[in-house]
Amino acid sequence: MAVARIFAEETMQLLLTDLFPGARLIVAANRAPFRRVESQHGATLWQRPAGGVTAALDPLLRETGGVWFAAESGSEQDLAVPPEEPSYRVLVLGVPEDVYRGYYTGYANSGLWPLCHNLVERAHFHSRDWISYRQVNRMFAARIASVASAQDLVFVHDYQLALVPGYLRQLGYKGPIAHFWHIPWPPAVVLRLLPERRLLLQGLLQADWLGFQTQESVDAFASAAMAELGVTPCRDGHGLSLTYEGHVTRLAAAPISIDIQKIEELAATRLTQERMVKLREHLALGQEKSLLLGVDRLDYTKGIPARLEGYATLLSRYPSLVGKVQFLQIAVPTRTEISDYRRLAVSVRRRARELNRRFGLPSWPAVRLIEHNLRLDQLVALYRISDVAVVSSLYDGLNLVAKEYVAARIDEGGALCLSETAGAYEELPAAFPLSPLSSERVAESLARALFAPVEERKQRMRSLRAAVTQNTVHTWLGRVLSGVREATLIS
Ligand code: G6P
Repeated sequence: MAVARIFAEETMQLLLTDLFPGARLIVAANRAPFRRVESQHGATLWQRPAGGVTAALDPLLRETGGVWFAAESGSEQDLAVPPEEPSYRVLVLGVPEDVYRGYYTGYANSGLWPLCHNLVERAHFHSRDWISYRQVNRMFAARIASVASAQDLVFVHDYQLALVPGYLRQLGYKGPIAHFWHIPWPPAVVLRLLPERRLLLQGLLQADWLGFQTQESVDAFASAAMAELGVTPCRDGHGLSLTYEGHVTRLAAAPISIDIQKIEELAATRLTQERMVKLREHLALGQEKSLLLGVDRLDYTKGIPARLEGYATLLSRYPSLVGKVQFLQIAVPTRTEISDYRRLAVSVRRRARELNRRFGLPSWPAVRLIEHNLRLDQLVALYRISDVAVVSSLYDGLNLVAKEYVAARIDEGGALCLSETAGAYEELPAAFPLSPLSSERVAESLARALFAPVEERKQRMRSLRAAVTQNTVHTWLGRVLSGVREATLIS
């Protein structure tokens, strides 16, 4: 283990004990970072879910220890993780199936998720789902309150658990609470479509510290609290805070990150070098061939159909690229209980087939579609051999794939095309900008990245790497911890 890494880990533990003496970190997030499943032959298998929340938080919990509360349909599970070297505990709340459906498939993912991504026509709200959402949020609060002491730090995550801070206070919990909202906070006109908006705002305003990925989301939240609850924001030397019913909540724009050192170390291993050689062979990436890469959950917010359209436009505009470039799209199935997601999978497959019919050569597919999750070490090798990574989300809280790609490019090679509407664009303006809804603009962005002079690509990658290494997941947690500390001092 590199010295810098040991240092980072010690710093995390020290910072936690320094700012919150005797505290345990208690995380609440819908998804657990590990899933224990049984194979057909009764063997125990561990799965790692896709998604930014678990990718960012698991490395931290490994360092600080603590408890992670999650929820699933079924019975409660108490797991010591990571399985190979347990360092923290995951308590998966067992939720009755119909309640879980209303909470997760219904209110959270058919209501809040599309609404917060401004895709209002996809959003549906039903009162029975709202009842389930409240019920599961209450279950989280009750279980947390049963183990947390006022010395601990409760850190709640994302749109699935907006009511947990409020319920915890109702249960008499007096310790510090942080809440981080990983997805965009919608503008006022969109939020107004949410029937229960005031209750969500009230729940969140019981946290001491409330973090968002971008300043735009912070401002939108502050305006919503003013408009809906008549709260007056107060700005001081430390930033913005809101006082609601006597409780002060500090707001912060704190874009999340990843374990940069871990990715850099992985990128430099012999195993990665060997994997890169094998992958190049497997994909027939000889001289003069280029690989474009997309890595996403198969989610409509990620803009995959428009991305493939844009790629088709690129190939029609530059026929000399046919047989020279290949698009590898990793599309990890997600939320398949929801019909919008199933339809998306069908349409992405259809587009990939059409593209291959139009532009594929017998030994050279124009697009390869991989529909399963890859391990981080496999992804890192892919990042390293890709000439261009394409992140073309319509809206995205942040997008950690963009950061992972940049972190893996220790050679300062490669190029990133990044949607101007992904939260990560605020920190990574050195990427090749991409306007995700227009196939011509997507094609332009890809062409710019492919044809840019080597020196420009290097210069951009250097700036991207400087930005990414400045804000690691460790600096992020440092900001959260000191923000919460300061917030609890003023309240
Ligand atoms: C996004 C959300 C997370 C969620 C993840 C995966 O990153 O912000 O809260 O866990 O997607 O989605 P899933 O529904 O599988 O948990």
